[in-house]
Amino acid sequence: MHVNIGIYVTLILLLVCIVQTSSKKYEPNWESIDSRPLPGWFDDSKVGILIHWGVFSVPSILSEWFWYQWKTKTPVLVDFMKENYRPDFTYPDFAPQLTAEFFNAEEWANLLKLSGAKYVVLVAKHHEGYTMWPSNYSWNWNSMDVGPKRDIVGEVADAIRKNTDMHFGLYHSLFEWFNPIFEQDRANGFKTQDFVSMKTMPELYEIVNKYKPEIIWSDGSHAAKDDYWNATNFLAWLYNDSPVKDYVVTNDRWGVNDNCIHGGFVNCGDRFNPKVLHKRKWENVMTLDRYSAGYRRNAKLADYFSVHELLTEVAQTVSCGGNILINVGITKEGTITPVFQNILLKLGGWLEVNGEAIYGSRPWLYQSDNVTTDVWYTSNMVEQDVFVYAILLSWPRNNNTVSLGSTIMTTSTTVVSMLGYKGNFSWRPNAYGGIDVIIPPIPFNLMPSVDAWVLKISGLKNVYKRN
Ligand SMILES: *[C@@H]1O[C@H](CO)[C@@H](O)[C@H](O)[C@H]1NC(C)=O
Ligand SMILES: *[C@@H]1O[C@H](CO)[C@@H](O)[C@H](O)[C@H]1NC(C)=O
Ligand SMILES: *[C@@H]1O[C@H](CO)[C@@H](O)[C@H](O)[C@H]1NC(C)=O
Ligand SMILES: *[C@@H]1O[C@H](CO)[C@@H](O)[C@H](O)[C@H]1NC(C)=O
Ligand SMILES: *[C@@H]1O[C@H](CO)[C@@H](O)[C@H](O)[C@H]1NC(C)=O
Repeated sequence: MHVNIGIYVTLILLLVCIVQTSSKKYEPNWESIDSRPLPGWFDDSKVGILIHWGVFSVPSILSEWFWYQWKTKTPVLVDFMKENYRPDFTYPDFAPQLTAEFFNAEEWANLLKLSGAKYVVLVAKHHEGYTMWPSNYSWNWNSMDVGPKRDIVGEVADAIRKNTDMHFGLYHSLFEWFNPIFEQDRANGFKTQDFVSMKTMPELYEIVNKYKPEIIWSDGSHAAKDDYWNATNFLAWLYNDSPVKDYVVTNDRWGVNDNCIHGGFVNCGDRFNPKVLHKRKWENVMTLDRYSAGYRRNAKLADYFSVHELLTEVAQTVSCGGNILINVGITKEGTITPVFQNILLKLGGWLEVNGEAIYGSRPWLYQSDNVTTDVWYTSNMVEQDVFVYAILLSWPRNNNTVSLGSTIMTTSTTVVSMLGYKGNFSWRPNAYGGIDVIIPPIPFNLMPSVDAWVLKISGLKNVYKRN
């Protein structure tokens, strides 16, 4: 009996070794592509920034879908164009006004670093088709030929890499709203793939080879199925032979049939926030302007998320195993406006105090508390010890006591404290199987955070065993 088990174990170990050392080649089918382990840096990062900038930043009203919304006769845009532009003005006429005169990639990099984000995803090409790099496949519709006359992707990539340790990724739209070659393929029922072979694929290879993005954040897949987009062929190349094959991550938007199913991690829809554990690694892509990813000149302060609302999204997302990708819209001049700066810096300040509960964390046994609402849990390992963190999104009302209802298996060494505050809090078991934590009166000038507070709980029996 023992001998047999020993032989099996040896055989299995040998097989594992062979599989690992024979530098596995991924095949162009989903089963093989999806079998690639997600590079660990992505899950550990938790917080990323998405940047929307393009020709849509010139009209800068309603949303980055301006061109489509105007052409499909959205009344506010039809009126806007009638009132402000000559009758024969076309969307491409906006491009020369993408002036970018205040664009300073180093300033962006320094600000984004201070937000506490660990990765940046820049829109390289949105559905309008305008490329923010001098693409060989986008003649006269790119940031070098018309508009800024600069390689925006290149400048941002360099600045992020020189000034920060953030990871750098690119958003790329597979389809383009009004590209005649795409229109032709569509008219052919997607039996021809001219747009894919002349535009989508060459562009993707070009940005990977030239800028070595650590994320390919694909979008615009809703227009056709993944076999039309040749998605698994591209991904097999990306994972086997590209210059970023060892660390690149990808999302799930590779065809109308793939959302939430295939790819490296899943976005599912925009603003996906299930508030329960999800079986795949997922990312919540949300915008700080509730109504638009592109910068809107006529946005009101109330249209932006408050810091508290943002931290609520962060806590819910990370508790449930997600990353959060926070979108910022850029002006046509190339600036990140003070409203965005303010919320990014506040987020960074909060993460500086409370990052231990976020970066590198894993979901705990429970995600949210069932007695006190607005409490979200994470767990993390710090120097060999595993801790549980309870993120409080509101200050306890009830005599400064927080009643945690989730079963908390305490020991004689259980200690509760608050991140950023010196001193341990007393606690007692409560009737729910959890604990009541008594928060002492904290002087205003020693209050570690303003919008959300994190209780750190050590010495528990039921900690999550990290994989
Ligand atoms: C773009 O085309 C030029 C001229 O054909 C070539 O020299 C250059 O290498 C190409 N760039 C990329 C990124 O493929
Ligand atoms: C799809 O990818 C394969 C493998 O790279 C390539 O041979 C083929 O030409 C591609 N098809 C299109 C339409 O791009
Ligand atoms: C409030 O907390 C204090 C200190 O723990 C305790 O002495 C007091 O009895 C509590 N009051 C109520 C109403 O629970
Ligand atoms: C809260 O969750 C714990 C653990 O699942 C459970 O034992 C307890 O009954 C729940 N309490 C309430 C009030 O639902
Ligand atoms: C809090 O508890 C920990 C663990 O028992 C202990 O090492 C530390 O000294 C305590 N801190 C204070 C300020 O009492």
